[in-house]
Amino acid sequence: MPVFDSGCAFLAEIKIVFARGAKEAGCEVEKIEIQRKKVAGCLGCNACYKNEGVCVQKDDMTEIREKMIAADIIVLASPIYFYSMTAQLKAVIDRTYAFFQQLSGKPFYFLVSCASPEISDTETMVAALRGFTCCIPDAKEGGMVFGLETNEPGDVKNTQAVKEAYEMGKQLI
Ligand SMILES: Cc1cc2nc3c(=O)[nH]c(=O)nc-3n(C[C@H](O)[C@H](O)[C@H](O)COP(=O)(O)O)c2cc1C
Repeated sequence: MPVFDSGCAFLAEIKIVFARGAKEAGCEVEKIEIQRKKVAGCLGCNACYKNEGVCVQKDDMTEIREKMIAADIIVLASPIYFYSMTAQLKAVIDRTYAFFQQLSGKPFYFLVSCASPEISDTETMVAALRGFTCCIPDAKEGGMVFGLETNEPGDVKNTQAVKEAYEMGKQLI
């Protein structure tokens, strides 16, 4: 189960407890720190459609692609940046243009953090993430966790979001 990680400090706690719950449930969890990967944006050249789904760009997306296709469950984790996901996560999502049909039927989970205390401020983020999953044939939305009002290190500790993440992870299998 790859957890695609955009590298947010507050999100780290949520990801850790989600993964802990998932491991306790018997899942094998692999975290991919995409902020440490080199993934260029999609060129929109459509070469992948003439090339059996292989992108002309050679970067870390080759490895991420194999992990996404092999995974039973995919978790997308990102802080909210200007009402949407991080550029790193968006680049990965756009590059699935070459193979997103091969992700059909998989369950997706979203782990999100933001500075705002208002759940309504996450709506555009959820819409953006669903803009990806709704394009994948028969993809399932497994669940989402929101770490609201995470401004200082430690804010997220012992919050409802952490408890929810642990319980969600535990119920994966
Ligand atoms: C570039 C940037 C844009 C951000 N935009 C938003 C936003 O639109 N809404 C929000 O609530 N928080 C926003 N934040 C705050 C982060 O989502 C929040 O601090 C996050 O939960 C924790 O990120 P950090 O651990 O990297 O500091 C933004 C932060 C950055 C760096």
